[in-house]
Amino acid sequence: MSERNTIVRKAYALVGRLASHYDGMMQNESLLGRLAIRFLWQLDGEKYAAFLRQAFQGLSKDFVGDLLEIPVGTGALSLPYYKDMNASSITCMDYSEEMLARARKYGNELGLHAIHFQQGDVSALPFENDSFDCVLSIDGLHAFPQKESALTEIHRVLQRGGTFTGCCYVRGENAITDRFIKCFCAPCGFFTPPFDTESSLEEKLKGLYSEVTMTSVGSFAGFLCKK
Ligand SMILES: C[S@@+](CC[C@H](N)C(=O)[O-])C[C@H]1O[C@@H](n2cnc3c(N)ncnc32)[C@H](O)[C@@H]1O
Repeated sequence: MSERNTIVRKAYALVGRLASHYDGMMQNESLLGRLAIRFLWQLDGEKYAAFLRQAFQGLSKDFVGDLLEIPVGTGALSLPYYKDMNASSITCMDYSEEMLARARKYGNELGLHAIHFQQGDVSALPFENDSFDCVLSIDGLHAFPQKESALTEIHRVLQRGGTFTGCCYVRGENAITDRFIKCFCAPCGFFTPPFDTESSLEEKLKGLYSEVTMTSVGSFAGFLCKK
């Protein structure tokens, strides 16, 4: 395990243990979370709703097939979205056992007993080639330490014609968010540099996928890619 992986694992072990605060922010519900969404992430009002739409733009609620979500984190955003996907096989993966423990508990609370939760590293996915119809990655690419192997592994496990979709932080869109990430998120291990700009991310994705559509909301780029 690389030194950076250890830093990231420790950072998210802490987040997993303080999951109610993290979930309150991700779901824009707690007071502190709403303040963070508004002032640090700069996703005020309609922008937060647009961020959510962008995150799930490539995955319809009636999706049927094999889905890998990585990283699931605590599942605060994605698990409620899976409530009616009974005909799909859903694997939710994360590197952090503490984040996964919270996701499992939340999945049980929502009655999502068929979802498979699995610990794993996006840079060495324990799946055969062409295993999934869709890979969803929300706020993962800016956190992963080995970004190139994360992208090639996700591409490898997707079937031809499959969809890679989600969103991540991109630098250069908002000075306040960039500063918060540079001074807090990166040193603490929540985010791992180097960070893409929207156009550098688009270029990388176009090198792998036959169709790439990019969108953006504040400092978050959305991607919808077909293999
Ligand atoms: C910012 S959180 C996003 C989680 C979730 N998608 C969300 O939106 O709440 C980043 C997640 O990436 C996970 N992670 C970091 N490095 C990873 C790796 N190499 N493989 C898999 N997951 C990883 C962390 O454990 C953490 O749960």
